[in-house]
Amino acid sequence: MTHDIALLPGDGIGPEVVDATVPLVRDLAESHGFDVEFTRYHWGSDRYVERGEMIPEDAPDRLRPHDAILLGAMGDPRVPDHVSSTEGHLVIRKAFDHYVNLRPARLYDGAPTPLAGYEGGEIDVLWYRENTEGEYVDIGGRLARGGRTEMALQTAVFTHDGVERIVRAAFEAAVDRGRKVTNVTKSNALPYGPVFWDEVVEEVAADYPEVDLEHLFVDAANMDLALRPEEFDVVVSSNLFGDILTDLTAAITGGLGLAPSANLNPDVADVPGMFEPVHGSAPDIAGEGIANPLATVLSAGLMLDDLGENGAAVGLRMAVEAHLDDPDAPRTPDLGGDAGTGAVAQSVRDRL
Ligand code: NAD
Ligand code: IPM
Ligand code: MN
Repeated sequence: MTHDIALLPGDGIGPEVVDATVPLVRDLAESHGFDVEFTRYHWGSDRYVERGEMIPEDAPDRLRPHDAILLGAMGDPRVPDHVSSTEGHLVIRKAFDHYVNLRPARLYDGAPTPLAGYEGGEIDVLWYRENTEGEYVDIGGRLARGGRTEMALQTAVFTHDGVERIVRAAFEAAVDRGRKVTNVTKSNALPYGPVFWDEVVEEVAADYPEVDLEHLFVDAANMDLALRPEEFDVVVSSNLFGDILTDLTAAITGGLGLAPSANLNPDVADVPGMFEPVHGSAPDIAGEGIANPLATVLSAGLMLDDLGENGAAVGLRMAVEAHLDDPDAPRTPDLGGDAGTGAVAQSVRDRL
């Protein structure tokens, strides 16, 4: 079996963390009896500076035949941030209708958390972030630009199907994990979208009487994730709330350098998933060789799960766990060490 993987290293630290991850996937392929082929696409901000586009117009057509996409990050000080995202990887998420943005946040033994008293395994949150609509629909505009009467409109859209499918995916995950779903909402202040969202959550919840359902307003959820993170299991939220709070769940489980994510459309078999760290291109440390590669390594683990290579995925996570649990293993500066990207990736590779 050959898995055909598109690499989109992108900008900043993106190429550094993707290049560090690829050899691990190759090793796993060899030891677990499958083949991998990588095709590298040099898309991103350099292309924008040269040609005025982040990715080619036919990018989705070129990516579709692949089995998976491994993305580094998009974003560069030379390009406005809303352009690098809305004309970059957000186009791919939307083109493939990647409605699930899966963001696991698990505290591994040996990973630092700023919260006192938590040990490995005691924080284990699985975030289902809606990834195609909500606050991220590209609908809005600006009027009377530049004048005192200028106005801007940014619209959020929630559809019944769009809400139902992400909520159902979250409940299915909760059934597998045997625990509960927390619905993060803001229906106390926003009486249209979030109230509708909550109604759909209740409709879906009726099909899963065995799953506990908790509703939290996003402000309280933000607080509770810091105060009682051990009580969270599966969380479902709209696009923007999920974006914001998954940086927090990353922070309490070792930081952005350890936080993986998967963009998935579980309903359509021939759509490649896109796997990427939660972090961005980190222009402040790009080129220094000190980016933590583990968020991308763990994203490759999610990719292997999606490709059906569960043995390889588990092996990869166990190697990361063993690496983190070894106080003498090299660590990048974000984890308090002085090692480089390559040394950390090699340490995990040695433990595969
Ligand atoms: P960021 O995630 O790039 O960086 C935030 C902070 O975390 C920085 O201090 C950075 O040095 C640190 N950091 C991030 N990843 C790290 C790693 N692997 N190892 C060590 N430290 C790490 O977020 P930002 O600064 O808000 O955004 C920078 C650019 O990235 C912007 O253009 C933004 O739009 C873009 N961005 C892209 C993605 C993506 O492509 N998926 C995600 C988030 C942000
Ligand atoms: C993320 C990022 C993106 C998002 C940005 C860069 C558009 O923050 O993947 O978390 O908001 O989805
Ligand atoms: Mn984000």
